[in-house]
Amino acid sequence: MQRIFSGIQPSGIPTLGNYLGAIRNWVALQQGHECLYCLVDLHAITSWQDPAALRDQTRTQAAILLAAGIDAETHILFNQSAVSAHARLAWIFNCVARIGWLNRMTQFKDKAGKDREAVSSGLYVYPNLMAADIHAYHATRVPVGDDQRQHLELANDIAQKFNHDYAVEFFPAIEAVVPPEAARVMSLRDGTRKMSKSDPSDQSRINLTDDAATIALKIRRAKTDPEPLPSEAAGLEGRPEARNLATILGALSGRTLDQVLAEHGGSGFGPFKEALTAQVQESLAPISGETQRLLSDPGHLDRVLRRGAERANAIAEPIVREAERIVGFLS
Ligand code: AMP
Ligand code: TRP
Repeated sequence: MQRIFSGIQPSGIPTLGNYLGAIRNWVALQQGHECLYCLVDLHAITSWQDPAALRDQTRTQAAILLAAGIDAETHILFNQSAVSAHARLAWIFNCVARIGWLNRMTQFKDKAGKDREAVSSGLYVYPNLMAADIHAYHATRVPVGDDQRQHLELANDIAQKFNHDYAVEFFPAIEAVVPPEAARVMSLRDGTRKMSKSDPSDQSRINLTDDAATIALKIRRAKTDPEPLPSEAAGLEGRPEARNLATILGALSGRTLDQVLAEHGGSGFGPFKEALTAQVQESLAPISGETQRLLSDPGHLDRVLRRGAERANAIAEPIVREAERIVGFLS
């Protein structure tokens, strides 16, 4: 059975983008795989986090994942900092990955922007930690949204260089599992930017904890253009906001973009947005309801994560010890 690993940063409330790009796929992949899902708090602090908020968000995120259908009994759900193997292997990978490789990472360039000198050094080596997350478990399949593809290529480069430099066949190749549609959900305010939980504007995204009224308001205010919707996908060229909204409706209702447009083509955005609102509300209501219920017992969430960390540690510890032995550390 192949092992799956994926992670999400507890740096805010997960969005509809996280859901369609990652979480929904994580749930589906539980059939037929052994899965580890990780709240990557070490990654989160690459940008400063208020400590109390980080603790809250880690619990909220655990609750959302359980509510969305992650089975923490059969599979493993935990927070990254509770398993020291991640940070230890990341250090070794810091010494394997080349600066030139990191300089090509588009996410770093986007996040650092003009402030390159002022961002944390953690943000720069973040992809090495991500590679360590996966390789510490010898996981081979990694479900992510489109924006993480480049990081997974780097994780493969690191594994290959490690194997080559130490003349071993220790770390396996990994494969990205990216959903066929809605792998990159865009901001509701700007169809050329990714929907992100760290966007300063809450209006730019649907949070998985938003209630029905908030969802309706955000969709009503979502940016569109003055033309009616086209009847076929080809007509979405140069209309990123229209494409994004139609893609979301299709992904949530299990229809292709062409099927959505066959129904809504020629209509203005008013009636289309009503249909979209109803669909988003229907898809998210069970998740936000169950999340609220789970959050009423934080002690239970902490126990789930602690138990997950023990089980994760039992897998990662021997693998990372072996990596440490390979590089020449005394054990
Ligand atoms: P992050 O929010 O950066 O921790 O991302 C967690 C997971 O959600 C990763 O697999 C991302 O690729 C995915 N993801 C984040 N934002 C989006 C988005 N706007 N559309 C699709 N997938 C996303
Ligand atoms: N970097 C990923 C993101 O921001 C999250 C992440 C951390 C991850 N470690 C991972 C995803 C390992 C997949 C596998 O989206």
